[in-house]
Amino acid sequence: MAEGVAAGHGDAPAVGQPGGPDRELSEADFARWYRGRELFEHDVEARNGLGPLFDADSCRVCHCQPFLGGAGRIDMNMVFFGQLAEGPEFTVFPEGLEAPKLSLVGIARREIPPAANIIEQRKPASLLGLGLVDRIPADVLLANADPDDADLDGVSGRPNMVDGAVGRFGRKAAFATLRDMVAYMADVAIGLTLPGDVSVYAAADDDDAVADPEWSAEDFDDIVFFVSHIATPAPAAGGDAATINRGREVFDEIGCGVCHVPSLDSPDGPVNAYSDFLLHEITLAALGNTVQGISTPTEFRTAPLWGLRDTGPYLHNGAADTIDAAILSHFGEGQPAQDRYFFLPPDDRDALLAFLESL
Ligand code: HEC
Ligand code: HEC
Repeated sequence: MAEGVAAGHGDAPAVGQPGGPDRELSEADFARWYRGRELFEHDVEARNGLGPLFDADSCRVCHCQPFLGGAGRIDMNMVFFGQLAEGPEFTVFPEGLEAPKLSLVGIARREIPPAANIIEQRKPASLLGLGLVDRIPADVLLANADPDDADLDGVSGRPNMVDGAVGRFGRKAAFATLRDMVAYMADVAIGLTLPGDVSVYAAADDDDAVADPEWSAEDFDDIVFFVSHIATPAPAAGGDAATINRGREVFDEIGCGVCHVPSLDSPDGPVNAYSDFLLHEITLAALGNTVQGISTPTEFRTAPLWGLRDTGPYLHNGAADTIDAAILSHFGEGQPAQDRYFFLPPDDRDALLAFLESL
C-alpha cells in the first residue's frame, strides 16, 4: 500500500452527489473506491516514486475542478511536442511526445529539441462519468463513424483504432480503455512506475532511486476503480425551462448534435455525454498540433459537453475563455456549424448557451 494512505471513509460525497460514486457500492467496493480516491489525492513524494520527470505530484492537482475527479486548471496544461513536415508527416522525437515541466533535484528536465516545430498544450479533462464511457460497446461508437463522409453531410468522424479497439480517451482518443489512460497518466504526469503487466502504457522501471514498481497492482486497480465510478455531471438545477428547451432545439437544428451526439447506448443505460468520441477535423492547420494514432494534426476527439459549466476555459488547450468563444473556434468539419451559430438570432443564441450551461 502506498505510504501514508489512510483507510478511513470520512469525507467522501454520497452516491450520485458531485464527486461521489456513480451507484450504490457494496461495503467492500466502497472501501476500494475510497482507497482509490485517497491515492488520487495523495501527494507522491520523491521517496515514494515521484519523477524523475513529472508535471505534478498527484492526480488531484490536475483533476479537481470543481471537486475531486473534475477538470483541471489551465496552468496545469501538459505540453506535447514533435516535428511536422510537409505531407503532413509527424515525427515523435526519441525523447518522447510529452515534455513534463518538472524534474527531481539533480536531474535535467526534458528539453524540447530545437528541431521541434510543434508545441501543443493540453488542458486536464474532466473525469466525471468516464466509467460509463469505458463501457460503451465498440459497435455503438462505430455506428456513428463516417470516415469518407458517405452521407455527404460534410462531417466525417473517424475512430482512432488502437490495436483493434476503439480509442475513446484523451483529447485525441488515443487510448481505448480507462485503465490504459490512467496508466499513461501515472507514468507521464507523475513519473510513477507500475507492474509491467497492468498496461502497455505503464513504465515498469525508471532511473530514480525508488524500487519499482512504485505503485502496486492493488494501488493501480483501486485508482482505476475510483475513476471508473465517479458520478456523471448532474444537470444544473433551475434555469428557465422554455429557454433551455429552445436551446436544445437550436443545438439540433444547426447540426451540433452530429458530432456532439446527445446520447449513446451502453449496458448501464444511456450515456448523455454529448460526444461521439470520434476524431474530427476541427482546428486550423496553422495552429500546429501533434499526432497520436491515426489522428491528423487538425483532428481532435469531439469534446463531451456534460458538466460544461464547470470545465472552462475550453478546447483541448484551454484557449477559449467562454463557451461562445469555443463554438466560434470550430473550423474544418465544424465550420458550417460555427457559421450557423454566428448567424443565429440573438434569442436563439442565448437559448443555446443556456442549454449548454444546463448540461
Ligand atoms: C499535470 C496534470 C495532470 C495530472 C497530474 C494527471 N492528469 Fe489526467 N489528464 C491531464 C491532461 C492534460 C489530460 C488530457 C490528456 C490527453 O489528451 O492526452 C488528462 C486526461 C485524463 C484522462 C482522460 C480524460 C478523457 O476525457 O478522456 C483520465 C482518465 C485521467 N487524465 C486520469 C488521471 C489520473 C488517474 C491521474 C493520476 C494518476 C491523472 N490523470 C493525473 C492532466 C493531468
Ligand atoms: C464536426 C464535429 C463538430 C460539430 C458539428 C460541432 N462540434 Fe463542438 N467540438 C468538436 C470537437 C472535435 C471539439 C474539441 C475541440 C478541441 O478540443 O480543441 C469540440 C468542442 C466543443 C466545445 C468545447 C468543449 C470543451 O470542453 O472544451 C463546445 C462548447 C462545443 N464544441 C460546442 C459545439 C456547439 C454548440 C456546436 C454547434 C454549433 C458544435 N460544437 C458543433 C466537434 C464538433
